[in-house]
Amino acid sequence: MAFWSFISHPKLLGLLSLLLVCPATSTTGIRLGVVRWPSPELPSFREAPAFRNGDECGSTEADRINVAMTLDANYLRGTMAAVLSMLQHSTCPENLCFYFLSAHDLPELNSSIKSTFPYINFKIYQFNPNWVRGKISKSIRKALDQPLNYARIYLAHILPSDVGRVIYFDSDIIVVDDVAKLWGVDLEGKVVAAPEYCHANFTLYFTKKFWSDPKLSNTFKSRSPCYFNTGVMVMDVDKWRREGYTNKVETWMLVQKIKRIYHLGSLPPFLLALAGNIKPVDHRWNQHGLGGDNFEGKCRSLHPGPISLLHWSGKGKPWLRLDSRKPCIVDHLWAPYDLYRSTSHFFEE
Ligand SMILES: *[C@@H]1O[C@H](CO)[C@@H](O)[C@H](O)[C@H]1NC(C)=O
Ligand SMILES: *[C@@H]1O[C@H](CO)[C@@H](O)[C@H](O)[C@H]1NC(C)=O
Repeated sequence: MAFWSFISHPKLLGLLSLLLVCPATSTTGIRLGVVRWPSPELPSFREAPAFRNGDECGSTEADRINVAMTLDANYLRGTMAAVLSMLQHSTCPENLCFYFLSAHDLPELNSSIKSTFPYINFKIYQFNPNWVRGKISKSIRKALDQPLNYARIYLAHILPSDVGRVIYFDSDIIVVDDVAKLWGVDLEGKVVAAPEYCHANFTLYFTKKFWSDPKLSNTFKSRSPCYFNTGVMVMDVDKWRREGYTNKVETWMLVQKIKRIYHLGSLPPFLLALAGNIKPVDHRWNQHGLGGDNFEGKCRSLHPGPISLLHWSGKGKPWLRLDSRKPCIVDHLWAPYDLYRSTSHFFEE
């Protein structure tokens, strides 16, 4: 896959960052004299306070925690809240390095993050939507078909080569625990760690056509596959690169193009490549489904048990439901992390 070589990041960046905790520091540390205001299409946000490391925190390469998320104008409010929640609950917030994946080269996104979180280490990476354009099949919900939704498949190619492990988070999450606990999971040789749901009926994620064709369904033969949600994953990026998982996931997307073997978006090809072969993480790290189902986004209540992460997967998003003044009870758990500055009445239609 020679075409990846042009996106791999210059070694120069690595040299610049030798003395720093996170490679992103080399760019975010530079203060420019020009202040750029967010463009009118982007919502505007309050500046988050500075969060500082506790005394027990190290400051070496080995102490850094890599978090990747997508960055998109429509979900920006969610991303901002998610970042704030992580910083707020971290013992060592300065060790967090954020890798944002964006489908557009928008300098405004950069300045929006910078003005909201002047103290975080971050860098924006370009995800080229053309990599997936011919590979996406229509799913049951239009939002799932956005190319950026597939960016997580390409993490291993987009991130600089010195990133060996990364946590991937969707933009509709709130972390209410120290993310270092998730970061520290022992992958035990697996390429991905995530909460696993073995009580969910796995059969339902694939079509009859899939299950009735042994050439396809035999892929699960030697595994005991369980559903997992790709909105929260710890990924061994080195192993992913070495074992060519991008190609495995892409191959299933091409099968889907021809045979329609599932109905959802970027999730099923991940299940096909990895289900039954991941490191399970405690369910507290993904209280998912708070956005309701894929059709109506009805209110859902919390599952019993301790919670480290809340996830508004499904159609309903807390910021939209709060704005519409018809929030679900769980949306009030999201609201305290909302940095949206609602003074911009001239944006209203
Ligand atoms: C973001 O802004 C910084 C300066 O604050 C700059 O060095 C960097 O190249 C910008 N990144 C992108 C992706 O625009
Ligand atoms: C799972 O769903 C399939 C397809 O609807 C059904 O045939 C099967 O009985 C279900 N399995 C369980 C354990 O409920």
